[in-house]
Amino acid sequence: MIDDITQATEEALKAIQTASDLAELDRAAAEMLGKRGALGVLKSSLSKVADIDERKNLGRALNDAMSAVNEALATHRANLVTEERLRRVEAERLDLTEFPSAPSRGHLHLVTQAWQHLEDVFVGLGFTVAEGPEVETDWYNFEALNMGEGHPARGEFDTLFVGHDAAEKPGDSGLLLRTHTSPVQIRTMLESEPPIYIVAPGRVFRRDTPDATHMPVFHQIEGLVVDRGITMAHLAGTIEAFTHAFFGPGFTSRLRPSYFPFTEPSAEFDIRRPDGSWLELGGCGMVHPEVLRAGGVDPEEWSGFAFGFGIDRMAVMRHSVSDIRDMYSNDIRFIEQF
Ligand code: DAH
Repeated sequence: MIDDITQATEEALKAIQTASDLAELDRAAAEMLGKRGALGVLKSSLSKVADIDERKNLGRALNDAMSAVNEALATHRANLVTEERLRRVEAERLDLTEFPSAPSRGHLHLVTQAWQHLEDVFVGLGFTVAEGPEVETDWYNFEALNMGEGHPARGEFDTLFVGHDAAEKPGDSGLLLRTHTSPVQIRTMLESEPPIYIVAPGRVFRRDTPDATHMPVFHQIEGLVVDRGITMAHLAGTIEAFTHAFFGPGFTSRLRPSYFPFTEPSAEFDIRRPDGSWLELGGCGMVHPEVLRAGGVDPEEWSGFAFGFGIDRMAVMRHSVSDIRDMYSNDIRFIEQF
């Protein structure tokens, strides 16, 4: 009989192992452990064994067999439950991040990147950002900036005029595409009381033929400070602080005497790169009393400084682009490099 128990146990364990799902396992368990199952039949035949010791031994063997079978059942059941859950999770999976082919990510234009970086740096220095229209009047673009009609400095700006008719009405001045961001100085002074600390980035236009260093449409950032007791030292200090913040600690700046009709004295500012080379960046100076007056500011009470430089040049420099036109070609092979 002991052999019968061993055989029944082995068969039961095999049936458990081969059950491939929970339903099959339940069926096998009922068959094996029920009264009519092999082990059940053996159990009920136990009472027919006459010898007490033998019955005891057989009873113990049967009990061991039952608990082995029960243990195997529990283990295999747990495995099947886990497997089933995994199968369901896999079948119901909905991956929203998966595309047939992942779309490539673009980035901001080089000039936009430089523009935003410049704004960040000046806002960090306490400036606010101002704006002006791209179509300007002659008065804001030239006259109010101390470049009256016939002023020779007007010749330096190859101006694109629009809407000549507008100028024919008395008191009106002609419309043009602004040649620099300096008219925003006048608009800001007329719109707000000093103290003024603003930067004005924007698009400017000149009748230039495109070449490696010129575009007829480009970008400048203007700066204007008007307050009590502002001196050239404040201008130099601001340019230096900006140079460190924008280019890094290895860079310094210098001012070189120059001429602009809207500043007196005027200077050009250069930055010194870590390798010792100098690079011209833009113009600056103390706001001319006539310009303050045009902006409705009393030059006896207030003084100020202004500066302006090209954003495109900064972008070109930063990325060592040899031809400014490449930035506007929309050639993906160029754009992808940044
Ligand atoms: N507006 C000048 C230009 O486009 C640049 C400039 C020079 C701006 C001196 C200024 C300044 O504010 O003070 O060439």
